[in-house]
Amino acid sequence: MKYFIDTANVEEIRKAAELGIVDGVTTNPSLIAKEGRVFEEVIEEITKIVDGPISAEVISLDAEGMLKEAEELVKIHPNIVIKVPMTPDGLKATAALAAKGVHVNVTLIFSATQALAAAKAGASYVSPFVGRLDDIGIEGMDLIEEIMYIFKTYGLHTEVIVASVRSRNHLTQAAMAGADIATVPFKVLMDSLKHPLTDQGIEKFLKDWESVKK
Ligand code: E4P
Repeated sequence: MKYFIDTANVEEIRKAAELGIVDGVTTNPSLIAKEGRVFEEVIEEITKIVDGPISAEVISLDAEGMLKEAEELVKIHPNIVIKVPMTPDGLKATAALAAKGVHVNVTLIFSATQALAAAKAGASYVSPFVGRLDDIGIEGMDLIEEIMYIFKTYGLHTEVIVASVRSRNHLTQAAMAGADIATVPFKVLMDSLKHPLTDQGIEKFLKDWESVKK
């Protein structure tokens, strides 16, 4: 399973990239707003850190506006993936962009039928939000399993990005479901690398080593 990092914070992206486990980046308007910086500048800086798909989200709600924004964003770097919301206009924009060879990530997916429609429109990626489904008492991972099953059944090549990841458990479950990608906040990524027994083990090894030296 590929790991994308779900942040617009370049320092976090840099630190995560140094670990050698980051395959791409996803951003959204909320993440960009948190940084208080110019959108295009942040995206351009990210392209210099990670050599992989970088999702930049449009804010227009009409297909025409989405296409105009996409036209500017793709000029930044060939790795830019245009992120559009899962709406009829988002699908229209997806079909038009895909026809031109532009990669599209259809976001805010909360049902299998939405994922299927996005794939049919030509999306390279779909982003189902597991955490936000969990928040309303619906098992988010069930949706991942449904989408994986449907895409496999029909041989669809659209990659599934498990989004709205909140815990290391989400990561494990995403991998168990065979998801192509999980996009992970920096804190969750770092947390997923830890185990108390690893820390205890290091402490004991060092203590034993010191006692021999004495
Ligand atoms: C990524 O593509 C999504 O925008 C992001 O994972 C949403 O996460 P959230 O539900 O924690 O805001």
